[in-house]
Amino acid sequence: MQKSNIYLVGLMGSGKTSIGKILAKRMSMDFIDLDDEIIKDEKCSISEIFDRFGEKKFRDLENKKLISTLGVHNCVVSTGGGIVMDKDNVKIMTENGFIVHLDIDLETQLLRIKNKKNRPLLRNVGNERKVLSEMRKERDHIYKKIAIASVDTSNRKRNDIVSEVVNIVQ
Ligand code: S3P
Repeated sequence: MQKSNIYLVGLMGSGKTSIGKILAKRMSMDFIDLDDEIIKDEKCSISEIFDRFGEKKFRDLENKKLISTLGVHNCVVSTGGGIVMDKDNVKIMTENGFIVHLDIDLETQLLRIKNKKNRPLLRNVGNERKVLSEMRKERDHIYKKIAIASVDTSNRKRNDIVSEVVNIVQ
């Protein structure tokens, strides 16, 4: 199968959506944000989906949306931070595109994460630093293992980050 998409993975706040949009423009590719697609389809926020139907339902919707990218080519796909926890999802991304990991250090991540509407895993948590550190421990090694490269996004200009990704995938 031809590898034609770029899948951006990484922790919350690593810039998958903002970098993805610029990258797609630069490479004359289409752009899809999986979380935004789910929000459009379900007509409610990610947090509402978690509240009303639970995380399992969200993960099913996320998996279905990712599967739908198998019919899409030449597209930058921004994923949600937890997508890599499902082996099927990793298989889909590996077979249909290049996976690029957007890396971010904890301090920058804490500063960047403001929008909690689509981040139910951070609502009502007493110690954000602890929750994010644990998530990092659980996920970071997976991002690094499955991606063709990790690109640091902490304290860097968006255009520089995008240039680095372009060099990697071209
Ligand atoms: C999640 C990250 C979110 C969103 C959902 C779950 C996660 O996306 O998919 O709240 O498990 O890390 P972002 O990584 O774009 O914040």
